[in-house]
Amino acid sequence: MENNKKFLRTLLAAAVTTTLCSQALADNAEPIKVGVMLPFSGIYAALGDAGRNGLKLALQEHADDLHGRQIEFIEMDTEAKPEKAPEIASSLLDQHHSDFIIGPVHSGVAMGMIKVLKDKDTIMIIPNAGANAATGPLCAPNIFRTSFSMWQPSYPMGRVALDSAYKRVVTMSWNYGAGRESLEAFEEAFTAGGGKIVKQIMVPFPKTEFQSYLSEIGSINPDAVFVFFAGGGAVKFVKDYDALGLKGKIPLLGSGFLTEGTTSAQGPSAEGIRTTLHYADGLDNEVNTKFRQDYRQMFGKEADIYAVQGYDAGLLIAKAVDKLGGDISDRAALIKAMESTKLLSPRGEVSFSKAHNPIQNIYLREVVDGVNKVMDVPAAKLEDPARGCKL
Ligand code: PHB
Repeated sequence: MENNKKFLRTLLAAAVTTTLCSQALADNAEPIKVGVMLPFSGIYAALGDAGRNGLKLALQEHADDLHGRQIEFIEMDTEAKPEKAPEIASSLLDQHHSDFIIGPVHSGVAMGMIKVLKDKDTIMIIPNAGANAATGPLCAPNIFRTSFSMWQPSYPMGRVALDSAYKRVVTMSWNYGAGRESLEAFEEAFTAGGGKIVKQIMVPFPKTEFQSYLSEIGSINPDAVFVFFAGGGAVKFVKDYDALGLKGKIPLLGSGFLTEGTTSAQGPSAEGIRTTLHYADGLDNEVNTKFRQDYRQMFGKEADIYAVQGYDAGLLIAKAVDKLGGDISDRAALIKAMESTKLLSPRGEVSFSKAHNPIQNIYLREVVDGVNKVMDVPAAKLEDPARGCKL
């Protein structure tokens, strides 16, 4: 009996000490500094805005996981200009001492950030940019991605095109890393199954005068067209494709960025477009339904993939901080906590590969009444090959 009482007293004392310790940690701890490097102006402004909104929503909803630590955001506009990246990343690293840097949208900006941030103590979480190298040859312990590699959403569309019995396809994109890698991934799958790329058209970024290229496509008359465009460029491209009379004649395919956050501006021109992506607004699961409702309530607009990816960057931070009881000073422990985190994302379950890239489903979607409706899952739990990553 006496032994039992002693045991209970010891247990109680231990519990009080733990509570006091975490209270003391919360009282004394500095806020967690989160640098945000996204485009708030330029052709990708809407993508940056959605990413920031998603990030803030997650950290607000999961404030209880932070063990009393506050979040301090330091926001920087990249303008989607690669030449601005090193300077902004250096200032978030050296002047602001960010614990995390969330960014960017544009693959060229990602390359500039990685040059500065690779193997540093600050954790970089990429909430969009798909540059294969970020989780390929340039992978590093402190670099994570909550979005996709360019290969991931485009490769499965090559197979979908073959299944649709298309044999001759024209591909088209802005001429920069992300665009080139998207077309390459489509081509890899499509030509492996006997398909032929009859013409590849590259347009300078961020140019949106598409008419002359579309006339050329009309005269080639391929079985289908596969493109990578996003943001303001995707709106313009889809409308021009319709206005020049190609819609209804030559099927338009793309990685899903072509119809993300853009369908209301594209209107009827977007109807029927088939794309592949790791998300669809019409995805029917509880997490997605709640996320879309909360997002609508907080920001007065519809969520899209960019909002989801920002949200998941916030979730990843919250889950890792929670695992460590609020103390993120041991960076190796923080990286380990992040690596083993599984996210219940609005896109479905997400875990991380050895290269720190999401392992995720790729959905085939079709625009029906302005919504990206899920038609199939052409690749379940797809892992990027992470060619060249030595982690
Ligand atoms: C990129 O540059 O990596 C990029 C930009 C916009 C997208 C997808 C990828 O929608």
